[in-house]
Amino acid sequence: MQLLDGKYVSEKLKGEIAEAAAKILAETGRKPHLVAVLVGHDGGSETYVASKIKNCEAVGFKSTLVRYESDVTEEELLGKVAELNTDADIDGIIVQLPLPKHIDPEKVTEKIDHRKDVDGFHPVNLGRMQRNLPSFIPATPYGITLMLKEYGVETAGKHCVVVGRSNIVGSPMSILMARNTTPGNCTVTICHSRTPDIKKFTLDADILIVAIGKKNFITADMVKEGVVVVDVGMNRETSTTTKSGFKLYGDVDFENVSKKASWITPVPGGVGLMTIIGLLKNTLASANKEVYK
Ligand code: GUN
Repeated sequence: MQLLDGKYVSEKLKGEIAEAAAKILAETGRKPHLVAVLVGHDGGSETYVASKIKNCEAVGFKSTLVRYESDVTEEELLGKVAELNTDADIDGIIVQLPLPKHIDPEKVTEKIDHRKDVDGFHPVNLGRMQRNLPSFIPATPYGITLMLKEYGVETAGKHCVVVGRSNIVGSPMSILMARNTTPGNCTVTICHSRTPDIKKFTLDADILIVAIGKKNFITADMVKEGVVVVDVGMNRETSTTTKSGFKLYGDVDFENVSKKASWITPVPGGVGLMTIIGLLKNTLASANKEVYK
């Protein structure tokens, strides 16, 4: 078994991103600028947004955090997005999900100017990604492709099974793995909550990407020898043994599945760190006008 080491790859790519940001600063006098909008105080969202802001600073980006209490109206939030869209100093806008129930996430996603949509969630970016045109690619799937590329994991002609069909991970991941790109060119199966006998499919997977949000969902009896496993799970449980008071668990029973896998991501230290890289690379690409002129 070999580790797909998110810490190693993310640190390496962060170095490259920092160099590119320094070049922009030297040439234009400005830094790439990401604005993150956070509504309410969801524990997971607080952690993820704080990490995004911290990493922006670490690579020499400017970042701004816009906070609202969970009773903010949809109208006010949409108004703020409209204001951020027209601010020429801003390269990327993200609105952290999930949002409170009274706010329609689709409306918010579509309100963000697709040219600043560094989460890659806007229908224009999703459509362009599917057509293999320049676009912002959702950060987690993007980070996973960067990790597979870094380790030279062969994907062409393989059977990739994606477990989970969310807008943020499973759905875009399945598109990327089926595209005529590297990584890509897989035969892709998507399994979800209405798939009977998921094991039938996972047992045939050469590459297994799991984003279902259930601790230890994938067990050793569900995979074949030599499988490549990418665990997107971020299941937080309270813990008395960690400094933060939380412990993170993946969707895969790492201890036993790793005995059969050729490559596998750990949790923590795997995909989560690569998500940040996807976001930073999209923001950099926006600042460089690489996706949209
Ligand atoms: N919630 C979970 N993952 C993400 C992400 O990548 N972007 C945003 N905006 N919200 C999320």
